[in-house]
Amino acid sequence: MPTQTVPQNEATISFNGKTISLPVVRGSEGETAISIDKLRGQTGLVTLDPGYGNTGSCRSAITFIDGDKGILRYRGYPIDELAERATFLEVAWLLIFGELPSKPQLEEFRSSVTRHTLLHENFRRFFEAFPKDAHPMAVCASSVAALTTFYQAPETDSNVSESVVRLIAKIPTIAAYAYKHSIGQPSMYPRNDLDYASNFLHMMFATPCESYAPDPILARTLDMLLILHADHEQNCSTSTVRMVGSARANLYASVSAGISALWGPLHGGANQEVIEMLERIEAEEGSAEKFLFKAKDKNDTTRLMGFGHRVYKNYDPRAAILKKHCDEVIKRVGMSSRLLEIAMKLEEIALHDDYFVSRKLYPNVDFYSGVIYKALGIPVNMFTVMFAMGRMPGWIAQWLEMRRDPDFKISRPRQIYTGATQRAYVPVDQRA
Ligand code: ACO
Repeated sequence: MPTQTVPQNEATISFNGKTISLPVVRGSEGETAISIDKLRGQTGLVTLDPGYGNTGSCRSAITFIDGDKGILRYRGYPIDELAERATFLEVAWLLIFGELPSKPQLEEFRSSVTRHTLLHENFRRFFEAFPKDAHPMAVCASSVAALTTFYQAPETDSNVSESVVRLIAKIPTIAAYAYKHSIGQPSMYPRNDLDYASNFLHMMFATPCESYAPDPILARTLDMLLILHADHEQNCSTSTVRMVGSARANLYASVSAGISALWGPLHGGANQEVIEMLERIEAEEGSAEKFLFKAKDKNDTTRLMGFGHRVYKNYDPRAAILKKHCDEVIKRVGMSSRLLEIAMKLEEIALHDDYFVSRKLYPNVDFYSGVIYKALGIPVNMFTVMFAMGRMPGWIAQWLEMRRDPDFKISRPRQIYTGATQRAYVPVDQRA
């Protein structure tokens, strides 16, 4: 007769002749963790987990990922359904408030966001102070932090919703101003008659000299890209937002830190690196095989950018959605499909190559997003800014959840010290 496994509610650990029991915690999708809050108190031990690959930092009800099966859900809703059927502001509400909004709630939210898109006029001078070639991610991180200087009222649980709306409303304006400044064009005021994505395209591409009508299909594609980026549980930038917020830093300061973390090439900065990689390969006459050879060589630091993920050990569902839309967008704008062809060739070879297969390296969200951004006319150095715009509701939802968590504590990891043990100070003239 097969023996039935009874789910265990505790794990035991033995050290130095002493055994202690630690409670086992289960999530709603069956993930299991050992809660170690009592570990240090009872044994003197801490855990060591560089990169936090085995560490759950919080309980969260926002986003569920099953990396082995390639599943991503926001508040229980599959990402493909939301990407195809919802709008970005609807998803933002869902992430922040936990449920899909009713029609009046969505209308109220949309109108509130629309009415907060303007930046204080002094912000123009703020932008002027940056060098023309400043990276727009640096400009965005500084500008979001600077919002605190314009909205100085201390954040309370009752007025935090104003900061929430301001951040979602103003990040497209900040992003577009950063771009306009970098190319020496006048910044365009937001237009309240346009939806979120169309308004962003207007602020990016309109000039005061002629009329500009955002293409509804391209605006819808952009809205979908923002949905795909909206949250991804405890990744590097989100953990940064939570970490900074755990010191009770305000929402603007916490999100600004998240933007800086996202900028890194191993995180959101990868979408810029992907397109640069594809362009390099194109310039070398499409040598995908040669490039992959370098990416596999352990003596070479080259990586196949847009491939691999800490959590997904299967196809990233966001990459699958984007791949499907690439062709449509490229045809719509009449762009050459050469970069998409190179990307697809790289993917095809990699998915049959033992190096990538054995390490479970698949395309991640950044692999195809760059090709679509390029087709939308977004300059390469703005790609990660687009990611930040999309991630804004996720950062906000995670920050609010952290602040309201009954287990709330300032984040303060431990370490294993490996430096010199105590030694006496030697005056400079006596040192060898
Ligand atoms: N190209 C070549 N080899 C790779 C790649 C890649 N893109 N990614 C991982 N590997 C290899 C590593 O060299 C390592 O090989 P080894 O076991 O022989 O040493 C193995 O696969 C495991 O890789 P790690 O770096 O240990 O995996 P980790 O989970 O720490 O890193 C990461 C994940 C950072 C995303 C990594 O896959 C990577 O650098 N990818 C390219 C950058 C990228 O696309 N980042 C975007 C991620 S998605 C996002 O943040 C939105």
